[in-house]
This record gives sequence, C-alpha cells and structure tokens, in this order.
Amino acid sequence: MKGIILSGGSATRLRPCTKVTSKQLLPVYNRPMIYYPLNTLIKAGIKEIMIIVAPERAGDYLNLLGSGKDFGVKFTYEVQDKPEGLAQAFIIGETFLEDDSVCMILGDNIFEDDLADDVKSFQSGAKVFAKQVKDPERFGIVEFDANMKAVSIEEKPAQPKSNYCVTGMYLYDNRVVKVAKELKPSTRGELEITDINKWYLAQGELEVAMISGAWIDTGTFDSLLEAQNLAKEKLQSKLVI
Ligand code: DAU
Repeated sequence: MKGIILSGGSATRLRPCTKVTSKQLLPVYNRPMIYYPLNTLIKAGIKEIMIIVAPERAGDYLNLLGSGKDFGVKFTYEVQDKPEGLAQAFIIGETFLEDDSVCMILGDNIFEDDLADDVKSFQSGAKVFAKQVKDPERFGIVEFDANMKAVSIEEKPAQPKSNYCVTGMYLYDNRVVKVAKELKPSTRGELEITDINKWYLAQGELEVAMISGAWIDTGTFDSLLEAQNLAKEKLQSKLVI
C-alpha cells in the first residue's frame, strides 16, 4: 500500500491567507495543516508517500518536509499543473504506484480516528469513510438502503439523498489508475473522485465504513477555526510527528 497526499489547488476561498502560501501549509494550532493527514498515513504504517502540490508551492513543501527521512518515510513530490480534479492524482501517480494499492488522503482533511486497521486489512476493491454532516450539498454524498448498504453516490447534490458525506480518505486497489484514465471531466471541469467511487459501487466492490471521531474538511474559515480547536483539545496526544 502506497500513500498519496493531494495538496494542490489554489484555495481562493481562504484568500488573503492563501495568496502567498498553500492552504495545506497554514497552521492548525501548532502544526502545518498537512501534518495531520500525514500523521494518519504514518500511523497506518505507510512508508512511501507521494505529495502532489501546485507548481508555485513545490519549493515550500520540499523545504518543510524534505525527503521524509525525519519521519521514517520516503516522500516523492509531483506537481499538478492545474487543479483538474481529485481523481487526476491517480494518473499523476501511475508510475509511483506501480502495481500497488493506494491510500489517498486530502491535504486539508483532519481525522480524529485512527484508521490504521482499515489500511492494514485492505485487500481489494475500494473503501471509503462516511460521516454525517449538516451541509450535505458541499460534499460527495452516499445513500444507503435499509441494511446500510451503499446504493448511490453523488457529488455535491442540490437535493441530497442522505447526510452521509464521503470524507477525504480513500483506499483503492491498483485498478483505480485505469478507472481514472477513463473518466471524463464533470460539468465543473474536474475528474471527480465520486465518479471513481461510482465505478467501484457499480462493480459491487465499494465498502463504506462509518467514522466515529471528528472529521474536518478545512475548506472555509469556520472549519479552519473548528480544526484549530480540535487539534488543541483532542489531537495532540494522538500525533506521532
Ligand atoms: O473533503 C471531502 C470532499 O472532498 C468530498 O466529500 C468530495 O466528494 C470531494 O469532491 C472533495 O470535495 P471538495 O469540494 O472539498 O474538494 P476541493 O475542490 O475543495 O478539493 C479538496 C482538496 O484537494 C483541497 O485541499 C485542494 C485539493 N485539490 C483539489 C483539486 C480539485 C487538489 O490538490 N487538486 C485538485 O485538482
């Protein structure tokens, strides 16, 4: 299992704070934001991690994180020229992934749960992690039947069929590269991770696990503030780096 941290994009919603730096390098209490998803991967035992960054920020990441030796892992850096969608990560990462499966986590997603067991026990297909949210129109949303089996997934639905959000950590077998290459951009011009999840769902190979602890997508100033408090109150003792 290899890891990808997707840490590109331009974060225009967080201007002016993101005018001269990357959102995922902003402080979340006492660490740069990316340390939190990095902790999640390192605690799961992932040793080879590709960090995908925007071209103008590549030097900052290299200066901050280096080779990975200080953290007991190996980093590979790749540039995403334009933010053309989350699923593009698997095309950019094709050579890095070789024949391995992948755990991708978004550089702005903070998880309280330890997901190490899920990563270590992953065999094939796809596994995603769901959490109930108050604003389902902002996320990828999964609908369940009466037996809590996933039946549909939609990206930012205007009329959400549930309030279960697909959070920003994804486990896939190596077929994800081929699936990503066959995707067409959505109406917003992006290769959507939700379309990858739909593909695995259609094969009957998408597992959806619930997360019990806090989860924050730090895309807005309010969620960033929430993340600061979570980091201070609950995460400090769980961090390994
Ligand atoms: O946070 C979970 C949600 O993440 C999921 O529920 C959605 O299904 C998924 O599409 C995604 O939605 P967002 O609206 O949060 O995606 P956003 O465009 O904000 O990008 C998420 C992170 O990935 C952000 O830190 C920037 C980075 N990114 C984004 C794009 C589109 C890249 O590095 N490259 C990209 O091309």
